[in-house]
Amino acid sequence: ASLELGPYSHFMQKEIHEQPKALSDTIEVVLDDGFVPELFGPAAANVLPQLTGVKILACGTSYYAGLTAKYWIESIAGVVCDVEIASEYRYRDAYADPNHLVVTISQSGETLDTMEALKYAKSLGHQHALSICNVRESAIPRASELVFYTRAGAEIGVASTKAFTTQLVSLFALAVTLGKVRGRVSAEQEAQYLDELRHLPGSVQHALNLEPQIKAWSSQFAAKNDALFLGRGLHYPIALEGALKLKEISYIHAEAYPAGELKHGPLALVDENMPVVVIAPNDVLLEKVKSNMQEVRARGGELFVFADADSHFVDSDGVHVIRTPRHVGVLSPIVHSIPVQILAYHVALARGTDVDKPRNLAKSVTVE
Ligand code: AGP
Repeated sequence: ASLELGPYSHFMQKEIHEQPKALSDTIEVVLDDGFVPELFGPAAANVLPQLTGVKILACGTSYYAGLTAKYWIESIAGVVCDVEIASEYRYRDAYADPNHLVVTISQSGETLDTMEALKYAKSLGHQHALSICNVRESAIPRASELVFYTRAGAEIGVASTKAFTTQLVSLFALAVTLGKVRGRVSAEQEAQYLDELRHLPGSVQHALNLEPQIKAWSSQFAAKNDALFLGRGLHYPIALEGALKLKEISYIHAEAYPAGELKHGPLALVDENMPVVVIAPNDVLLEKVKSNMQEVRARGGELFVFADADSHFVDSDGVHVIRTPRHVGVLSPIVHSIPVQILAYHVALARGTDVDKPRNLAKSVTVE
């Protein structure tokens, strides 16, 4: 394994650092051909124009990719998108609109609950299914009419990292393509999205370079029993993903909340023993996030903030700031995934856990 790991200590660390490449490989075809239906298979040119909505089914980290996609799909494509945990969906009397595209998201393509949810959706009358998957010819893409393969390469660490960010970029491509088909994306807008995609691997590399600063924070988390992650809008699912990463590999209890929800309950938990991670990009919600941060500070909670270079945060008493790259617009959740992955990794190292094979977990959950 040491040969395969090269300069890295764990597969998770290696896979975190492979993200600029995994993302360039995944978007290459989009940069070459533009946002065309054929990205999703030969049948897509016929299928996409008929769609009036999207239903996303997935588990774990892949589910959080779906939650992020909902924001893109509703705002860019202008169609309704709902996202469900596959293991819940498969056992409920769900409403099925035949013109809503079922999108399954799965790194392995073998997750039993996601596979069963897909079969169930078809049995309820959904006509069309797209699989976003990292493993070619696995069970879920084989059962789907439309397929988009992420090109993350083999992911060995149980904690998903590069599969997640490549899923996000694929879902962004789906949102823009659907928007184009529906006449909602102008040529100028398309050119701008392509430009943002082109710059993405560079911004991700920038975020990776923050590793020493993030590592310096890790000892402050390693000694704690709990952590809270806050984000708003497109970055709320990234807060969820950050909390899941920390739970999985460091065994620290972590929760994520959309910051505006704090005062409806979780603020009661906040004291000096509760480190609070805030994802605070310079977007329309920044001022709201700042006032949520004051609510935490007033209760003695220590803040660890990932803020864009242009969001003007500075360190102060109980407020630690790491500056992420300049705000990259609509793809910002992808860039902000990186620091929360790195934080979880270094906290786990500080606690001495088995990072690549955390207790009680399997890479691919093929049982119920
Ligand atoms: C992620 O870090 C997890 N280990 C887990 O939540 C995973 O994302 C989930 O089991 C879904 O797997 P899949 O993408 O292979 O379907």
